[in-house]
Amino acid sequence: MAQKIFCCLFATQLKKNTLILQKRNVQVSVIGAASDIGSYVSLFLKRNSKVSKLHLYDDDDRIKGTELELSNLPGGPSVSAFIGDTNLEQAIHSSNLVVMVSRMPRKPGNTREQMLGANAPLIQRLCKAIAAQNQEAFVAISTNPINYLIPFASTVMYKYGCYNPSKMFGITHIDTSRSRSFVAKALKINAQEIQVPVIGGHSDKTIIPLFSNLTPRNYRIEPCQADMLTRLVRKAGTEVVMHKHGAESSTLAMAWSINEFIDIILDAILGYRVVVNCYTANSNFGTKFFAGPTSVGPHGIIQACCHFPMSEFESYLLNRCIPILSREVLEGEKYVEFME
Ligand code: LMR
Repeated sequence: MAQKIFCCLFATQLKKNTLILQKRNVQVSVIGAASDIGSYVSLFLKRNSKVSKLHLYDDDDRIKGTELELSNLPGGPSVSAFIGDTNLEQAIHSSNLVVMVSRMPRKPGNTREQMLGANAPLIQRLCKAIAAQNQEAFVAISTNPINYLIPFASTVMYKYGCYNPSKMFGITHIDTSRSRSFVAKALKINAQEIQVPVIGGHSDKTIIPLFSNLTPRNYRIEPCQADMLTRLVRKAGTEVVMHKHGAESSTLAMAWSINEFIDIILDAILGYRVVVNCYTANSNFGTKFFAGPTSVGPHGIIQACCHFPMSEFESYLLNRCIPILSREVLEGEKYVEFME
């Protein structure tokens, strides 16, 4: 009898695994996979049933160790490592999604903006490889300063004749994660139950959490709380940088949020229509690029973020953000000339 029950359970489990296996048909490349963020993101992806092949790229040859470790784990996607500039094109070839996590992290006292010079060359190399080998891929970049680097990457791709604005994403999901988590603490509720749209960009003066649009609608944030929570979200990254004494910036929270973003985008790649917070080409607010909840499907962006009803405080933040973001976008685009 016991054996029969075990066989039944085993058969059910096998059926479940078969269903999951059928869904595994997506290839993802992680660029910068030997870094802390890259390793955590790769580990998350090793557990993702939507992924069939995982390509890990880094200039650092320790990536081979990461590949071996992940390959030692049972199940999940096959894992291959690619090392150094000459293998970058191969690393992204045929991938449905290319995720860029390589970056020089900022030090205490640095702003994200100050990382432009250090990080733009990494983005340029990636764009060149994508132009040469995989123009169809969804490209998602988490490298700072995002406000500048997505316009920069878009201009580089445009110059290579293969810019597809509907497949270029700045990963700003961390601002949503932080907003949800701070609101949940303030209201003593479960963060998993709530959503907070965050619009603008990803820097101290451009992140605009829309607490007045908190869902479910029965939760309410008072204006004085909104002010305090906005400050917390805007300063969260800088506070982590300070406490890590220059060794790193946010790695765990970034990896967690990048993974959540990837998981949603994978659903889009697999044919669903999804909504995810990200920074993309978007002229609905008077700048060329803008972050917010974005509707995405299998061919890329379906609908960029549009206007929201806003509190007086949020409108004030938006009015202050627009000129700053417009300037940063322009500087990002112009930086391409500087690199030539
Ligand atoms: C963050 O918000 O944590 C990231 O942008 C990393 C950083 O430098 O703050």
